Amino acid sequence: MAEFRLPANSRINKNGKAHKAEGATRPKSFKVYRYDPDSGENPRYDNFEVDLDTCGPMVLDALIKIKSEQDSSLTFRRSCREGICGSCSMNIDGTNTLACTKAIEDCKGEVQITPLPHMEVIKDLVPDFKHFYAQYASIEPWLKTKTTTPSGKERLQSPEDRAKLDGLYECILCACCSTSCPSYWWNSDKFLGPAILLQAYRWLADSRDELTGERLDELEDPFRLYRCHTIMNCANVCPKGLNPAKAIAETKKMVAERAI
Ligand code: SF4
Ligand code: F3S
Ligand code: FES
Repeated sequence: MAEFRLPANSRINKNGKAHKAEGATRPKSFKVYRYDPDSGENPRYDNFEVDLDTCGPMVLDALIKIKSEQDSSLTFRRSCREGICGSCSMNIDGTNTLACTKAIEDCKGEVQITPLPHMEVIKDLVPDFKHFYAQYASIEPWLKTKTTTPSGKERLQSPEDRAKLDGLYECILCACCSTSCPSYWWNSDKFLGPAILLQAYRWLADSRDELTGERLDELEDPFRLYRCHTIMNCANVCPKGLNPAKAIAETKKMVAERAI
């Protein structure tokens, strides 16, 4: 399981603020990473008490309640609150996950919340995804073909070929896996990381895609693909239950097979 690591630009200031929930019948403490680059101050942890009797069941519900009732400057991403958009990925009690699908009752004691580890922080719980998205764009994540589309028809796929995309298409690009991978921590400038490699394999596995060779050429590189050392944090941490390590192994197999 991914260990807790502070974000890349962290030097924690010990003087965080404490917010009490007056009259709470079921108080729960949340220790939340705060960083505002405009303030010129080091990051800090703030403590917030939330009454679970007046809060929804998920960690995201607690963050929304804190922002609404205690500190409107608390900054985090969220959209769907259904585990679909991938916006609310963060580190909760030492594990990267989605705040909207993480139940508060599964967190024992004080809940510690930090941004995804080893990424630059824009503000509070919001990491900078610029590099991650540039890596995603680099694999050209769309159907690429050489033949013309059958006139007036879609490119068809058998149910068996469609099934090969199961376990791949569900990826929501939350980056929980990549930011839990030690190889990605140290080599994210050149290693694509588990999320992007799973996405790359999604197109390699698609029977309709006709540029498999070119895609493998792009991946066959000591860093881009082969910095995966089967550490498996990625598969352990994925909130959608996907297995990027398997996708990476399948990609390595395709590279090896075409060399024979
Ligand atoms: Fe998130 Fe899982 Fe996709 Fe990684 S493989 S980006 S953890 S959904
Ligand atoms: Fe990293 Fe997963 Fe490979 S954790 S080293 S990408 S198996
Ligand atoms: Fe969309 Fe959590 S808010 S995945």
